[in-house]
Amino acid sequence: MSETPLGVASILSCIKGRDFLSSADLTSDQIISLLDLASQLKKGNRRIDLGNRVLGLIFTKASTRTRVSFQVAMTRLGGQTVDLNPQVTQLGRGEALEDTARVLSRFCDVLAIRTYAQQELVDYAHWASIPVINALTDLEHPCQALADFFTMQEAFGDITGKTLAYIGDGNNVAHSLIICGALLGVNVRIGSPNGFEPLPRIVDQARQLACERASIELTNDPVEAVQGAQAVYTDVWSSMGQEAEQFQREKAFQGFCVNEELLSHADSEAIILHCLPAHRGEEISDGVIESSFSRIFDQAENRLHVQQALLAALLGGL
Ligand code: CP
Ligand code: NVA
Repeated sequence: MSETPLGVASILSCIKGRDFLSSADLTSDQIISLLDLASQLKKGNRRIDLGNRVLGLIFTKASTRTRVSFQVAMTRLGGQTVDLNPQVTQLGRGEALEDTARVLSRFCDVLAIRTYAQQELVDYAHWASIPVINALTDLEHPCQALADFFTMQEAFGDITGKTLAYIGDGNNVAHSLIICGALLGVNVRIGSPNGFEPLPRIVDQARQLACERASIELTNDPVEAVQGAQAVYTDVWSSMGQEAEQFQREKAFQGFCVNEELLSHADSEAIILHCLPAHRGEEISDGVIESSFSRIFDQAENRLHVQQALLAALLGGL
């Protein structure tokens, strides 16, 4: 098995022991190096043994991909995972976060947390003495964005200057895509209904991070958003926690379904991405999910490879 190239190992050594709460917690070079390592891991050119480290998963929302990909990634790294679902720990009975975070730091080596408020994640990171990873909050989904740009790289090689159109809610997934795209020099165009745009402060932050490398454009016209784009991405109209808004959102998002008609305005070779789970027939048509342009299931698989690279880097296993 080949070694991690010296440059990659040295760049990633800077994030050993650090938290990953936002896409903005990494520099461009660190993201590029993580994707490089993920590629080696996926091809089987690199094997990393962390030696029985333990990842704690605290998930207050449902998950298939994130939970399982973290579990499998940790197993492949020679470590293990403990499920700290609040329903089965004292967290569910109101034990204080600051106590929980300090106690878990004595048992585990790293925590991946899925919750609602970003501030809760920040509080965990403050009290824990081990790295904390954002496994999705209402604000961001940074592990997803790493897998998304890795999937674009697999499709195109160099992704600098490519355009990714995201159609739908300016939500957690959109926020991480905007920031990560800015760092990687990928232009991101968000097409969302009026009132469902990404948060202005995230857009401003991404524009600053882009340093003219990439553009971030917002429009309320889905056709304008996909025009000539090399990748078209969508996510559910009602995220976890927004179930009560489903009816109102269904009305607001009419015309924002990624279907064959909308795609006819994108680049003729455009790839299709969706973080999943999908509501087929709502934000994306069956035909588009199943089309030859869909990279959706590669994208899901890639969660495993990028998170394996991330865990190895945060735990200093390179
Ligand atoms: N994309 C994603 O995070 O999927 P899960 O909700 O199944 O983890
Ligand atoms: N925006 C979605 C993403 C699910 C992976 C949600 O937060 O439910």
